[in-house]
Amino acid sequence: MQYAVADVNHHDRYKILTAFVLPRPIAWVTTIGPTGVVNAAPFSFFNVFAEDPPLVMFAVNKRPDGRIKDTWINIERTGEFVVNLTDEPLARAMHESIGDFPPDIGEPDYLDLGLAPSVDIKVPRLAQAPWAMECKTWQVINVKDDRQLVIGEGLRFHIRDELWDAKAMRVHMDKYHPIGRMFADRYCRTDDRVLFPAAEGPKKAAE
Ligand SMILES: Cc1cc2nc3c(=O)[nH]c(=O)nc-3n(C[C@H](O)[C@H](O)[C@H](O)COP(=O)(O)O)c2cc1C
Repeated sequence: MQYAVADVNHHDRYKILTAFVLPRPIAWVTTIGPTGVVNAAPFSFFNVFAEDPPLVMFAVNKRPDGRIKDTWINIERTGEFVVNLTDEPLARAMHESIGDFPPDIGEPDYLDLGLAPSVDIKVPRLAQAPWAMECKTWQVINVKDDRQLVIGEGLRFHIRDELWDAKAMRVHMDKYHPIGRMFADRYCRTDDRVLFPAAEGPKKAAE
């Protein structure tokens, strides 16, 4: 089966893209509103792209009725956000944070999620997140006025202590259980892991 993109309507394109390009990591982005309300929303059109500087990108689209999402409004105003990651204990709350919250009700407050102050920016992070990165906006790419690709530069990493061997600079993989986005309301666990021996390539194999 094949389709020219031009022959597929937007909704079906979304389905084809999200049903195959998976699992996707989830950025649970915290931002601050004009009255100080802390907002949290998940984004799975997301990834990291560089380490020098550390760059993350996620895409915020408009709501189906055309309203701009709080995350985008807040980032446009402050130029700051935190990317928090989600593991199994937090996954349900992450999913529930997509309810239609008015801007004056913060998802962390409503869902009883603890916040911890950031160091380099004013936006707090989610205290229980396994990993979080304080970010300032690096660049924003406007896509046809209906979505923004937000590129953030990481300023500071926060890692939950029990997950990290600071001496070896290694994650304790047996204790880290991130959740991936499949599509729609489906997620996956990441505990069924596979290890391949080092790849040798044709030159080494011929020796
Ligand atoms: C796992 C997950 C991933 C999501 N990924 C995106 C995304 O990449 N881009 C987007 O615009 N919305 C995405 N959404 C929907 C937003 O999280 C949702 O619209 C949210 O309510 C926006 O909140 P805000 O208005 O507080 O910013 C996703 C939802 C879930 C549950």
